[in-house]
Amino acid sequence: MTVHEGKVALVTGGGRGIGESIAERLSQAGAQVAIADLSQSRAQAVADRLGGDALALAVNVADEDAVAAMVASVVERFGRLDYAFNNAGISDTPKRLVDFEAESWHHMIEVNMTSVFYCMKHEIRQFLTQETRDERRGAIVNTSSGAGIIAAPGQPHYTAAKHGVLGLTKVGAQEYGAEGVRVNAICPGVTDTPMVTSSLPKEILDQVLKTMPEGRMGRPDDVAAAAIWLCSDEARWVNGQSLIVDGGGVVR
Ligand SMILES: NC(=O)c1ccc[n+]([C@@H]2O[C@H](COP(=O)([O-])OP(=O)(O)OC[C@H]3O[C@@H](n4cnc5c(N)ncnc54)[C@H](O)[C@@H]3O)[C@@H](O)[C@H]2O)c1
Repeated sequence: MTVHEGKVALVTGGGRGIGESIAERLSQAGAQVAIADLSQSRAQAVADRLGGDALALAVNVADEDAVAAMVASVVERFGRLDYAFNNAGISDTPKRLVDFEAESWHHMIEVNMTSVFYCMKHEIRQFLTQETRDERRGAIVNTSSGAGIIAAPGQPHYTAAKHGVLGLTKVGAQEYGAEGVRVNAICPGVTDTPMVTSSLPKEILDQVLKTMPEGRMGRPDDVAAAAIWLCSDEARWVNGQSLIVDGGGVVR
């Protein structure tokens, strides 16, 4: 039996990049996987590729009603929820703080931070209705960023949102640890996904890579491996933590 067999996992932003890699690894390890994404076609393409009973869901995680319906759909299909990866997120073109309009500030906070609150709220409510398995009810991994630990100049809204995700992670761990729920976060460094290749200017990417010990971007699978370990029972005594997965770039 593989280590994730019989587990039910939800991955937001699962249509490509890091989320797709998490969904793929989990599916290969025997989990039943729901892939939720703003893009129905991306989610469906991943579900079709993974095969089996993979479930594709079109969801805007910045909409609380949609998030509640997402969790309900997973439970309707698979009967419970064991792992939740709150991973969906966006980036933005870098600018100086003084040049940002309120509209882009609010949009970033909604999609990259408030969405994590919505997801945690409805996932934990579901966990609390479930019977415990080996004293555990469920585990969450939120995707923060290196920008949740240090500043990303040019990205004040992204930096604030990703720091906020770590705060939510700590509160989740403290409030629900006694009820068999773990909440942790991963903080990826620059990772080779469409988010980076389509939006980060080459000069900035080159500068960032110079600060990385291995001089390369992460691969989605590098990040997925760490995220899945954090959610798994192998990390049963790890709660409220922020795991930096970046080849040693942020450490000084
Ligand atoms: N790639 C990196 O270098 C990097 C570094 C640190 C943190 N992260 C974080 O990792 C996560 C995944 O990033 P990625 O690089 O795989 O990005 P990506 O753009 O390749 O994939 C993100 C997916 O999230 C989906 N999405 C966006 N907004 C959504 C919404 N409102 N509702 C539902 N789905 C939505 C997109 O459709 C897309 O399929 C994000 O939270 C990102 O901030 C990425």
